[in-house]
Amino acid sequence: MIGLLLLTLAALASATCDRASLKSATDRYIIAQSTGQLSWLAPALSPNTTYWENLVQVPLPLQNNTTSAAILSRSLRIDHHRTAFDTVQCATFTELLSLSPSSPYQIATQLRLDPSTTKIQKIDSIVTTTGDLLFSPSHALHYILQQPDWNAFLTTTASRTPRASLQAAADAYYDFFVNKSVVVPWDRPCTRVDGGFLDTPDMDCNTDIPDGVTVRTVDRRYVIDEDAGVVQVTSNFGVIGPDSHEFWVVGGKIRGIRSATVCPDKKNCGLERPAALGEDIGY
Ligand SMILES: *[C@@H]1O[C@H](CO)[C@@H](O)[C@H](O)[C@H]1NC(C)=O
Ligand SMILES: *[C@@H]1O[C@H](CO)[C@@H](O)[C@H](O)[C@H]1NC(C)=O
Ligand SMILES: *[C@@H]1O[C@H](CO)[C@@H](O)[C@H](O)[C@H]1NC(C)=O
Ligand SMILES: *[C@@H]1O[C@H](CO)[C@@H](O)[C@H](O)[C@H]1NC(C)=O
Repeated sequence: MIGLLLLTLAALASATCDRASLKSATDRYIIAQSTGQLSWLAPALSPNTTYWENLVQVPLPLQNNTTSAAILSRSLRIDHHRTAFDTVQCATFTELLSLSPSSPYQIATQLRLDPSTTKIQKIDSIVTTTGDLLFSPSHALHYILQQPDWNAFLTTTASRTPRASLQAAADAYYDFFVNKSVVVPWDRPCTRVDGGFLDTPDMDCNTDIPDGVTVRTVDRRYVIDEDAGVVQVTSNFGVIGPDSHEFWVVGGKIRGIRSATVCPDKKNCGLERPAALGEDIGY
């Protein structure tokens, strides 16, 4: 028993990656997506890397020598990207925006690496485009540029949040949908941008969260970057489905939320699309 525990602890202790190897993998991922040439990513893959899009496994042509429906095998113009690094879980989260009028995309990708080889084990992407929930990459980019840099290092003890509390903050947000007694560590001001829509004109993230939701968000997969105060979750979101939510947490409290949610009907999940999303947001 104790032996097993020690082995487990040893495995946990060795399961750390440095930022440099994580960054090298994400650099290759971004280049592959922008060129549509998987060869750029090949050196970072292992023979059994799996690739998932919107919770469904899709073959990569590099591995199975077939033409692929994978978005990753298409060249996309990338207008914005940023990455959060989880050195403990050996994982990354990258947000990509393509504002191309002919093929606009918002993509939220987790990479999970094998700590012993630093090869990618799993590529797990949420891919949203026209018709997905509140989709507007230009509006999303506008708000990203207005907000503080979510990748800035939080250097003071007071501003940093321990990993467990980062994960708990994200969990509290999801659980609040089904149970309004759950205490969410809200901060004010807090901005929530769902797709490209700013849902929080009053800078209160506890705005417009529906009542009466009965379906819990499940299969939560976390990327936690303590240095930046970021926790991102890819999941099967309530009644809707494939989803990414990223939370920015400062001093234990949620300051910002950004999400990308797939709508199976490609009609804004049956909800009315706010007129504001069609307006010119400015730059
Ligand atoms: C295949 O993946 C598993 C984990 O999913 C990993 O432990 C193993 O090393 C991989 N094998 C190769 C040949 O990369
Ligand atoms: C490649 O094809 C084989 C056989 O059809 C399948 O078992 C395997 O899962 C595929 N690999 C990927 C990454 O899709
Ligand atoms: C992959 O496909 C190409 C053409 O589709 C073929 O020429 C090549 O031999 C295939 N490679 C393997 C390893 O099956
Ligand atoms: C709702 O959340 C509260 C506070 O965390 C908890 O005490 C209660 O058991 C929860 N109710 C249900 C039905 O899970």
